[in-house]
Amino acid sequence: MSNLNPVSAVAHPNIALIKYWGKRNVQLNLPAAGSLSLTLDGLHTTTSVHFDPALDHDKIAINDEILSGSKHQRLSEFLDLVRQRAGISHRATVITKNDFPPSAGLASSASGFAALALAASKAANLDLDPTELSILARRGSGSAARSIHGGWVEMFPGKDDPNGLDSYAVQLHDESHWDLNCLVAVCAQGPKKIGSTEAMMSTAETAPYYPAWIEDVPKTLVEAKLALASRDFSKLADVAEASCLRMHACAMAANPGILYWKGITVDLIHLVRQMRQEGTPVFFTIDAGPHIKAFCTAEAAPKVSETLAAVPGVQKILHATPGAGARII
Ligand code: DP6
Repeated sequence: MSNLNPVSAVAHPNIALIKYWGKRNVQLNLPAAGSLSLTLDGLHTTTSVHFDPALDHDKIAINDEILSGSKHQRLSEFLDLVRQRAGISHRATVITKNDFPPSAGLASSASGFAALALAASKAANLDLDPTELSILARRGSGSAARSIHGGWVEMFPGKDDPNGLDSYAVQLHDESHWDLNCLVAVCAQGPKKIGSTEAMMSTAETAPYYPAWIEDVPKTLVEAKLALASRDFSKLADVAEASCLRMHACAMAANPGILYWKGITVDLIHLVRQMRQEGTPVFFTIDAGPHIKAFCTAEAAPKVSETLAAVPGVQKILHATPGAGARII
């Protein structure tokens, strides 16, 4: 075995405009439909991995918290995928740091598993191409497959491959294609009550609208890709808001209903729509939490930021721009 040196990688979170909500295979973590996202600069996860023959178990720390229990198991099982592929059995030291708050509604699993896939595969002396990395990151978290790439990214649900090797993300346009900004209006603190993995599975099992939701995604995805290619803000706004509201409507229709929104979330939806009606190019999207992510042109960003920050209950605004893919540092 050649030397196994420590390797560090950085990756950014991404926000989906066409949402991923539902799996067709839980074991391989295969999404039931495609999705489309923007990778965000200004927010980073940095992860270093060292496979070390001296260790008898994986030592994993995220933001200085040493992991144990199910959190440790999820990452250790992910490292097993890398070990199997590289033909090694060494345990690893993994140190991860996020420079954005854990409860800001930015899935740290997306940047986290993207950075881990890259750092761990390199640290195991594997040389994976971006598609292989995306497939690997997907096993950790569906949205992580998208954070391998920069800019505007499409995730394929795959269909035929029994091992899910046809389910991965590709870059549609790099980060210079369209300078839309994303302002995250943080509306509450503390961890969410139900994580996205559990929530999307419950939605699939119990929501009567789930088949209609999944059937609709390919259509909205085509519309979003056309709007994106031609930089048609108003079309992208319509289709992204529709995807977000349909995803949440479907989750609300689960049993028991899953409701991530707070009162302020609804207030901000109305405010964003009012601003758009009055001529400001801005639209919203919402993930598995109460926070609003407002997408707007770079010129409109200062005004949108100021307007959202002035709403009582908005705790802070994070400002992100189109970002690059996962990379070794
Ligand atoms: C609402 O990627 O966190 O953010 O694959 O189970 O880890 P797992 O789910 P995850 O789900 C993301 C859900 C979402 C929408 C999206 O990012 O597309």
